[in-house]
Amino acid sequence: MIYAYKTLTLVKLYFSTFLCLCIQSIMYNKRFILQHQRSIREWTSNLINNFTKDTHKVRQIGDPVLRQVAKPVDLATIVTPDFKKLCDRLVSTLRRHNGCGIAAPQIGVPLQVIAVEFTGYDLKVAMDKYGSKGVSKLQMSLFPLKVMINPKIKIIDPTMLALKEGCLSVKGYRAMVPRVKEIEVEMLNVSGNTETFRSLGWTSRIIQHEVDHLQGNLFVDTMLYKTLINDSWNEFVD
Ligand SMILES: *[C@@H]1O[C@H](CO)[C@@H](O)[C@H](O)[C@H]1NC(C)=O
Ligand SMILES: *[C@@H]1O[C@H](CO)[C@@H](O)[C@H](O)[C@H]1NC(C)=O
Ligand SMILES: *[C@@H]1O[C@H](CO)[C@@H](O)[C@H](O)[C@H]1NC(C)=O
Repeated sequence: MIYAYKTLTLVKLYFSTFLCLCIQSIMYNKRFILQHQRSIREWTSNLINNFTKDTHKVRQIGDPVLRQVAKPVDLATIVTPDFKKLCDRLVSTLRRHNGCGIAAPQIGVPLQVIAVEFTGYDLKVAMDKYGSKGVSKLQMSLFPLKVMINPKIKIIDPTMLALKEGCLSVKGYRAMVPRVKEIEVEMLNVSGNTETFRSLGWTSRIIQHEVDHLQGNLFVDTMLYKTLINDSWNEFVD
């Protein structure tokens, strides 16, 4: 009887110690996660409040931030005013430079955020530059502004197609870059909801280009080397 009682007490003791340890470890983890989130938020806030007022500069090849692997963004950060500032800044920089895609590292922020937009005006500029034949070859089509957080690409059609592209971070140069034809994108939108969609043609190319930035990759890493051109090469012909 006494023996059984002792065993029971021992079991109780073990159990409560175990429970205590569990709770402690959960609390410790939670504190760790909260601290981690807070430090990412502080860091994001620092980066964003470091933007000078109106320059909207785009970092150029050679800047180490373009070679960093960007960090994913957690839901707690997405809802902060500083993160909204970052998204606004990304979009205004994209528009200031008449680009059709931009990634956060290009404005000095190594977080997994990209913005893509192809407007009627972009289409008109492309028509003037490449003609309607060129535009249909590039498979350009309208794409309303979309800010994509933590975008992930799944290949749907692996057929490679090489077309000419440029980059706001490799100003003045262009080259043919082989990319897959069709992709599926899974991302978080600015409200923190998951969205999944398929993409073809020029939009698919832009998204692949921007997602490459998040891995620290630039188009010059995968271009067909001999197709690299200086945009104003013909101004140097006698
Ligand atoms: C903000 O700018 C200051 C001064 O240029 C620099 O020392 C600091 O590292 C920057 N902060 C971040 C988070 O980049
Ligand atoms: C093209 O080459 C010229 C001559 O080297 C250089 O001055 C210019 O910056 C390059 N890029 C552009 C966009 O003209
Ligand atoms: C985010 O996605 C949700 C669910 O698909 C949608 O209801 C919401 O309008 C989206 N928000 C934005 C800003 O696109």
